[in-house]
Formats: sequence, C-alpha cells, structure tokens
Amino acid sequence: MMSQDELKKSVGWAALNYVKPDTIVGVGTGTTALHFIDALATMKNRIIGAVSSSEASTIKLKQLGINVFDCNEVDDLEIYVDGADEINHNMQMIKGGGAALTREKIIAAIARKFICIVDESKCVNVLGRFPLPVEVIPMARSYVGRELVKLGGQPVYRQGVVTDNGNIIIDVRGLSIVNPIELEHKINNIAGVVSVGLFADRAANVALVGTANGVKVLE
Ligand code: A5P
Repeated sequence: MMSQDELKKSVGWAALNYVKPDTIVGVGTGTTALHFIDALATMKNRIIGAVSSSEASTIKLKQLGINVFDCNEVDDLEIYVDGADEINHNMQMIKGGGAALTREKIIAAIARKFICIVDESKCVNVLGRFPLPVEVIPMARSYVGRELVKLGGQPVYRQGVVTDNGNIIIDVRGLSIVNPIELEHKINNIAGVVSVGLFADRAANVALVGTANGVKVLE
C-alpha cells in the first residue's frame, strides 16, 4: 500500500515532464506542490526560474536555489503546477485549503496550462464536501457571511488565519456544487470578496492523479 504522501510525491515528480527548458514555471502551494518543487530543483540549471503562489513555496524554492520572479515581471507563463483540495470530472477544482487561493488564481489566470497534481482521494463527482474557502476583506466579514448563507452554505470564519494579502478566510460548508461556474461568479460578485477557491471558469487542463496503480493522466 502506498501512503497518501507517496501518491502526492508520485504526481509531484510526474509533473516534471511538462516543464520546458528556458521557461519560467508557475509553482503552487501545499504538500503536493512541495514535492513538485523538489523535482523542479533537479532542473534548476535548465529553467529561468519560477513564480510562486505563496510565501511558503517561495522560501522552499529559494532554499533549493531556484530564482523566484515577481508576477509583474512575467507576461507569459507556459504552465502552472499546483495541487487541489477537490477535483471533479470536468477538472474544476476547490482550492484554498492552504489559504493561498488568491495568488493561485492570479497565476492560474496568467498560465497557458494548469497542471493539477492530486492523489486519488481528491477526486469527486460533485464539488463541495471540502469546505469552500473564500478570501474576504476583514471589514466585510459579517456581510459576506450573510450573503453566503443566502446561497445555501454555512460560513465558518477560519480562526487565526491571515492570508499573505492581509485578509481573512471564510470556509463555506454544506454546499453541493452542481453548477460550479455559476456559483463562482455569484460569490465573486459579493462586495468584499477578494476571491473564491472555486476554479471552475478556469479549470485544469491536465490532471495527474496518483493511484496505487500509478499516475493517471487526464486531459
Ligand atoms: C493551497 O491554498 C491549496 O489550494 C492547495 O493546493 C491544496 O490545499 C492542496 O494541498 P495538499 O497538496 O497539501 O493536499
């Protein structure tokens, strides 16, 4: 039996196949992305560098000697490699378990290809069992909470968490997300919401799924 961490490692290393020499690589956040960073370090002399979706990933990239660029210095990104908290058959995802959703969304928007790396426990038919993270400006916390109740969810303030952008996270429980794009747009429209951890409008282009029988490639 492979452990969950071994499955994460298998997809983190499999993502190396998508890295082109002489490019800047978009790098995500979380335990699966950390395995990808280990793998990427083996190519560090053949790539220009990385853009990173969190302070945590930036620290690890720099420790391993990979150049980290500011997003504003980069206008073309071939790939973005990141994990997810859930992914459905349309490659739409819930992300933000690590509170880095806004930066992740920005890099995903810039990148031509989103390569999602997950172990098979993340694959679902309907998104929403994992509480949906929403990054919110602190002064809008109560208002946004009330609006999320109207959408059928149970908002829970993530205690003690401040995002890299100085905001708070509300996790929305009890959603069964049958129309992810519609819900993403509705939540994005609430005043005070910075971003929502639904990656539906811009889903993944490739999913590498770690299973006991090897890495499955969905595209
Ligand atoms: C970070 O904000 C998240 O979007 C991560 O991509 C997600 O939580 C996956 O994390 P693990 O790879 O640690 O499971």
